[in-house]
Amino acid sequence: MYLDPEEEKMLDGEYGEAIAMAMKTVLRVAEALKAERLVRVKNAHISGISYKNIGDEGLQFLEELAAKGGRVSVPSSMNPAGLDLAQWRNMGVDKGYFEKQMRIINALAALGVKPTLTCTPYLYEDISYGDHLAWSESNAVLYANSIIGARSNRDGGPLALFEAIVGRAPLAGLHVESNRRPELVIDFTSVSKEVEEQNMYSVAGLLVGALTGNRVPLVRGLKLSKERLDYIKLFLAAVGATGGTGLVLIEGASPENYPASGVDTIEVDFKMLRETLDNYSGTDEGAIVLGCPHLSLDEIMDIISRLPENGTATRKIFLYTSREVYEALSAYMPKLREKNVYVFADTCMVVSPLNIYAGKEVITDSGKAAFYLKAQGYKVKLVSRQKAIEMAFT
Ligand code: F3S
Repeated sequence: MYLDPEEEKMLDGEYGEAIAMAMKTVLRVAEALKAERLVRVKNAHISGISYKNIGDEGLQFLEELAAKGGRVSVPSSMNPAGLDLAQWRNMGVDKGYFEKQMRIINALAALGVKPTLTCTPYLYEDISYGDHLAWSESNAVLYANSIIGARSNRDGGPLALFEAIVGRAPLAGLHVESNRRPELVIDFTSVSKEVEEQNMYSVAGLLVGALTGNRVPLVRGLKLSKERLDYIKLFLAAVGATGGTGLVLIEGASPENYPASGVDTIEVDFKMLRETLDNYSGTDEGAIVLGCPHLSLDEIMDIISRLPENGTATRKIFLYTSREVYEALSAYMPKLREKNVYVFADTCMVVSPLNIYAGKEVITDSGKAAFYLKAQGYKVKLVSRQKAIEMAFT
């Protein structure tokens, strides 16, 4: 594989042990992917930072990498952690868990990763069409590739961190234009009206992921556009939960436009949507959890506008967002608490100990949250955001 002189020096340890270790790992992956060279990345996003998920082993790995002098060489951000850094006591989290989580965040910060603790870096980072990225977190990768036209593979958290340290990724997979062309068409035209009226974008996403696997689909017939950020986020996150692809070409929303000739077409009918949805009808009880992916400020303002003027929710509503959005909402917090609505930052329903503060039965509008919570043993119901709010106020 071709390495430029700087990359050779990194590999030879001239810039220190941590960079050499990162370069060796990136090259091993590049060889497995049959990449002929590396490509410089503009930005990195590191997932897998919840203590709940990576445990003591992950913590030790990060602390050792920081102790070896590792440092990212491009702007890098962090995915949500296992708790809200300010409200962890309200989550019923014990002090030991909190301290371990903080050590993970501090180790990453020592490596130069910004403690953004959100899974929506596309709302905050300076990313443009054609930029090469080292992103982990499937919903972020899908958004960057599919909506912005940036280029990232679906890296695991440790690989994205190593790529951030060397500032390069293998030139393979979705970094290469010829791999970004549609390999099948999924046509929603005959159910477009139902998906729109019943707000079934999460369901559509779960179905697309399951039908697609690792291929790049062209999705036709959904009324998705860049102005419908909330729907696009739910749709793509759900695709990432059930499928391995990092790119969905969406007619009307994706900037890339390739012909889809000579590939199979799957026509979606309502029965397919219904069967997908039926997997998530486990309960009518429990708290409402919204914010997978993290809610934007506009989305939370929209939720607030849909809450009834009078009355309190009969069950708790939990909203998850970034710290930045949380702080912008401070004036609304007393009113929200009065209505039995709680906003958490830095974390989400999937990576925090939800069972402690919300129980084992939940209702959500997110196909991704439904998929992972069900896998964790929760009883889950998937409904539209509007329906979830209505259920909380009846
Ligand atoms: Fe984000 Fe957690 Fe969902 S990290 S995409 S809110 S599972």
